[in-house]
Amino acid sequence: MSTAGRSPVEPVADESTAEPGETAVDLDSAQRAEAISSLAADREADASDGDTLLEVRGLQKWFPVKAGFIRHTIGHVKAVDDISFEVKRGETFAIVGESGCGKSTAGRAILQLEKPTGGEVIFHSRDNPPVDLVTCNDYQLQQMRSNMKIIFQDPFSSLDGRMTVGRSIAEPLVIDGKLGRQAIKDRVAELLTAVGLRPEHASRYPHAFSGGQRQRIGIARALALNPDLIVCDEAVSALDVSVQAQVLNLLERLQRELNLTYIFISHDLSVVEHISDHIAVMYVGKVVEIAPVQKLFSRPRHPYSAALLSSVPKPDPTNKTDPEMLVGEVPSPANPPSGCYFHTRCPFAQDICKVEQPPLRDLDGQGHLAACHFAEDLTLDGVEAVPPMSFQVPSRPVGGVGSLT
Ligand SMILES: Nc1ncnc2c1ncn2[C@@H]1O[C@H](COP(=O)(O)OP(=O)(O)O)[C@@H](O)[C@H]1O
Ligand code: SF4
Ligand SMILES: [Mg+2]
Repeated sequence: MSTAGRSPVEPVADESTAEPGETAVDLDSAQRAEAISSLAADREADASDGDTLLEVRGLQKWFPVKAGFIRHTIGHVKAVDDISFEVKRGETFAIVGESGCGKSTAGRAILQLEKPTGGEVIFHSRDNPPVDLVTCNDYQLQQMRSNMKIIFQDPFSSLDGRMTVGRSIAEPLVIDGKLGRQAIKDRVAELLTAVGLRPEHASRYPHAFSGGQRQRIGIARALALNPDLIVCDEAVSALDVSVQAQVLNLLERLQRELNLTYIFISHDLSVVEHISDHIAVMYVGKVVEIAPVQKLFSRPRHPYSAALLSSVPKPDPTNKTDPEMLVGEVPSPANPPSGCYFHTRCPFAQDICKVEQPPLRDLDGQGHLAACHFAEDLTLDGVEAVPPMSFQVPSRPVGGVGSLT
């Protein structure tokens, strides 16, 4: 990316480590390949790609709504309400949906950063029997924490501005207590190199880095304890399009070489298409569709998924969808509508939709699940494959979504 016209004090807003007057790091350097191989060496015993890593069963996270002088509970925000899915080792499982539909709460409840109200989260670790993170004891949970990490949208808020980058990355290693001082220093240098930064960046503070670079620091910190699972919560949403692509490339490369599993949370379907294996679409705290990525993109079976997809840029600009709007706001999870939660916005809603909640069911016996009474009858528009890495922020309103046959 060109830095022409940039103020000399402004951080470089791309993935290179170059500052004015410096030469950019060669991101395909031998040192980087070596650092990634060294991280991968710790994981050599792990050859079980495709096995189940995580089973989420009936997960719920309700937040109490309190009122009155004695702050009694008058209701609940059902941010996550009875969601179930399975994540395979080595895959990217995306969770998508509009803002407020419960994606972040689901990610945090899976990692037990929010204590779930109900349900199970079964984690199949490499060396131990499966553990239900919801009911396991504190010692077990602490052991499991090194296996599951999260990367946030804004790495600036997750990095302590008063700590050097090196200290931030080293912190989980220091708490873990297994490595000595020099080994931690070496590991930090290796992690920085693996994410395309330089070992000497360890002594700098987060404000000296651009958004993309800070996200790389967040990734290095997440990798410090060699986790199996990383939850990426809108991890590239705050970055501009070209930097998004670079950070996604880095995540893909690390996944390939370290056999990582990602839960990738995003409101933007065009971002998840190229990196995901499976996608779960959430609406008002519920999963309304789960499918392998190609199936969901080419033939969505839930009107809400189709509406989200209609905002994804098409490879053929003449292939415009009906400009009919998906009107209305996402209903509040504190007071969701009756029946199918989507009926207030769905162009295909019938009387039954207002009274009966459709269960999430397998439509093809091959893992394409949707929660719509008319999933078999609807012919919904999908999108053709868009060229890799053509990430665009949708600029059009959500359009028409298909027809009821
Ligand atoms: N700590 C909380 N207390 C009360 N409500 C919350 C809390 N955290 C999230 N919510 C509510 O839960 C719903 C889902 O939020 P969130 O998981 O952040 O959605 P998303 O990540 O999809 O934008 C929203 O209505 C939000 O206001
Ligand atoms: S159940 Fe009815 S309201 Fe809900 S998505 Fe299907 S057609 Fe629309
Ligand atoms: Mg969120």
